[in-house]
Amino acid sequence: MIEQVNDIRQQIADYTITTKEQLEEFRIAYVGRKGAVAGLFELLKNVPAEDRKAMGQELNGLKNLAQEKFQTAQDQLESSQSQQVSPEVDLTLPTVPNETGSQHPLSLVRQRIIEIFARLGFNVADGPEIEEDWYNFTALNFPENHPAREMQDTFFIEKKGPGKDILLRTHTSNVQIRLMQNQKPPLRSIMPGRVYRNEAISARAHCFFHQIEGLYIDENVSFKDLKDTLYQFVRELFGQEFKVRFRPSYFPFTEPSAEMDISCTICKGEGCSMCKHTGWVEILGCGMIDPNVLENCGIDSKKYTGFAFGMGIERIANLKYRVRDLRLYSENDVRFLRQFENA
Ligand code: PHE
Repeated sequence: MIEQVNDIRQQIADYTITTKEQLEEFRIAYVGRKGAVAGLFELLKNVPAEDRKAMGQELNGLKNLAQEKFQTAQDQLESSQSQQVSPEVDLTLPTVPNETGSQHPLSLVRQRIIEIFARLGFNVADGPEIEEDWYNFTALNFPENHPAREMQDTFFIEKKGPGKDILLRTHTSNVQIRLMQNQKPPLRSIMPGRVYRNEAISARAHCFFHQIEGLYIDENVSFKDLKDTLYQFVRELFGQEFKVRFRPSYFPFTEPSAEMDISCTICKGEGCSMCKHTGWVEILGCGMIDPNVLENCGIDSKKYTGFAFGMGIERIANLKYRVRDLRLYSENDVRFLRQFENA
């Protein structure tokens, strides 16, 4: 009989219970009243009296072993069942990262320029993109039928007569006029915004782009103030190592007028295709506001002087990020835009 006991002890030890069905089978086979262990207890009465006590102890040990195994397996199955989530959810799969998006490069550059001028004391002004001729041209000293109007290819919306035509603004200078009309000097503002010109779209020209213009009007504002302000701006934006130069130029609304170049940010002045092998790239137009313009807006040109400047945001972004095709800014190709995620 002792062999039977050992045999069953071995069977119990070897039994694997991983499902509810196996647990029930195990219970019937070894724990239940008709199971193998109970069967051995039946045989106890045939055991000689002197061995019965020892055999009884053996059987009790076997019974406990079966019950403990049953209890442990039952506990395990219950707890793993309560942790189980629905079978469609695979917790081992990698997570899908959140798409956070990024700021457009033109927004990044505009924001940076605004920050720099804010520290120099300039606030931000805004105005309409659909504008009357007078604000876009006449008040800025472009006489009617004057060839200077040809400098900017204009999208006209409605022809209404001299100074009254409705058009898409060709520069943000219209905001300068509105500001000068509505506020008294001292004025120190920048005007970021979208502007439109009737040009064929290519890598170097677009029918719309973005500008930031600025003006400073007070008593005794001089060309030196203009140069100081713009030097400081370039140093903050591009760094100390860039050289700056002013070239005489012409705008109807400033006198004298200049264009400002910086040493090429790509080749550092050595000469490359970006700077057309000159080592210099033009970044803005500027000048002292023509007294006629001040008077057109009701500002006493004997008392006040001022300077103004204007730059294309795309041009600055091209230099900062080495972009060579203007069209990329408006195509919304995520392969382009993603490159500015950490800019
Ligand atoms: N309005 C000019 C342009 O769009 C830029 C400019 C602004 C030049 C102010 C001089 C002074 O071309």
